[in-house]
Order: sequence, then C-alpha cells, then structure tokens
Amino acid sequence: MTCVGYGKIILLGEHAVVYGYPALAAALDRGVIIAPVATPAGGPLRLELRAWGVAITADDDHPVARSLAAIADALGAGRPPLSLIGDAQIPPAAGLGSSAAIAVAIARALLAYRQPEGAVDPAVLGHAAGASEILVHGRPSGVDVALAIAGGVGVFRRASGLLPLAGVPALRVLVGPSGAPRSTAAMIDRVAAATGGRPDDPRLRELGALTDAATAALVGGDGPALGAAMNRAHALLAELGVSTPQLDALCQVARTSGASGAKLTGAGGGGAVIAVAPREREAAVLAAWRQAGVDGFVATVR
Ligand code: MEV
Repeated sequence: MTCVGYGKIILLGEHAVVYGYPALAAALDRGVIIAPVATPAGGPLRLELRAWGVAITADDDHPVARSLAAIADALGAGRPPLSLIGDAQIPPAAGLGSSAAIAVAIARALLAYRQPEGAVDPAVLGHAAGASEILVHGRPSGVDVALAIAGGVGVFRRASGLLPLAGVPALRVLVGPSGAPRSTAAMIDRVAAATGGRPDDPRLRELGALTDAATAALVGGDGPALGAAMNRAHALLAELGVSTPQLDALCQVARTSGASGAKLTGAGGGGAVIAVAPREREAAVLAAWRQAGVDGFVATVR
C-alpha cells in the first residue's frame, strides 16, 4: 500500500492568500509517496526518505522528526512500531509544496496502518498535516495541504478551503526549481513587514484581483491573459520583497524566450519559478533555464 501527498504550484495568489484573498493552485502529478511497513517485533516509529537524505525516528531532534511526531500526536496514533518508507519526486524546500506533501503522505500512512480498509476523512488528514505545517511555516494559509490532499486544480480561500475547478482545459506549465533554498516562514514575515500586516494593502488587493483574472483565463483557455496576470503578479511579489535577482532573471529569460508569462511560485526568496508559453516556445524556455543552471520540467495542470 502506498500513500501519496501531491506537490503543488501556485499559479497566482501566494502570500495574498494568507490575508484572505483567493489563490489559484494546482497539484503536480508528482509528490511524496510512503509505504507503511509494520515492524511486529517492535521498534520506534521511523521514517526513511532517501531522496531527501532523511532517516529519522519520531523522537529524534530533527525537523522532520518533529513533524512526524506532531502528525502522530494530532491523530492520537501514539508511536506504533512502524517503518514509513518513502520516495519523493519533488525536491525539498523548493517552493513546490514538499513539506505539505510529506505531511499528507505521513498522515495517510498512519491512518492506513490503523485502519487498512478505512475511508480517509480529508478533514482529519488536513488537521494532522496542518499540525506539521504550523511547525514548519508558522502561520500557513493551508493551500499547500489542501492541494496535497485533493490533487487537481482549484481556488483556495482561507475561510472556505479549496473549490475544485473541474473540467478546465489542460494547461502546460513550465516549472523551474532554482535550487536556492528558502524559508516560507521568513517570507511570510517579510510580506507582513512590507504591508504592515494590513489585508487592505493595495498590492495584496491587486494580487487578489489578478487571481480572479487568472482563474477566468484558465477556465477560458486564454494563455496570453494568464501570462499577463502572472507577469504582473511577479512584479508585485518583487515589490513585497520576496523575489531575488536569480528569480527575476529566470522569469526574464523565460519571457525573452517566448513565454507569455512567468513568475515565482510559492513563498519566494528562492524556490521555483513557473512560466506558460506557446507550445512551440516551451523547448526554448527550458533550454534558457538549463543554460542558467536550472533543470526545468513541464507539468500538466488539469
Ligand atoms: C506557500 O506555498 C504559499 C504562501 O502563500 C504561504 C501560505 O499560503 O501558507 C507563501
């Protein structure tokens, strides 16, 4: 049995979503998978995820161990004799929702061990994975966990959760993990400093309006309109202090290679950029990123 948590990209609305505005987000077709293997002879609750160089028990002094313990505690699972053996197809701390993906996969695995045939309540999963996200990110909106659980594409609001968008035309998104690590909590603090923590900050309001425009463009299959919204969003995020010269350069080179839009995705300060481009320009964008040392890939959002 394998238990999955999807990675995600935010097409539009990161940071503003923390202040109640909508975010348009999509799960990747990759993430973290975990197989729970019982150790009947006894032993600690442990987790092994070689792709990220992680091998810990729940009681170790290690950030991932603290997440594992928080999830187990939120589920009232105790410390069962269980090895959680995982694999990841997304890099950690890259702005692609890795912490939510692993948290959801862990929570699913602990629930599956307790009740192999039981139906999983998304609210229970969300609560347990959220306990880890609060440890890792401070005061996350919950968008990463919602996508890691549900997959697909949707509009997330802090107050009402994820509204899935069914039947949108498939969209190809170029994803460029910059390789620069970052801290979501530090970036959330930076936006709070830039806005004075006021939800009516004009830049946050404009990001909210851009999310609405991008959602309409996605539903209508209008790549250029989506791209324009993404370009403006990147400029606003840069103004809020969460871009970096490297992210700006990756977006710029994507645009000059033919992308109709490019922006940072997720918290910024490092992490990943995304771009949308006419099909015949995708190879040029990926080649330009490769020249800049970034190994990008195409994700299909639907
Ligand atoms: C992180 O993927 C997105 C942020 O908006 C933080 C959050 O919503 O929790 C930066």
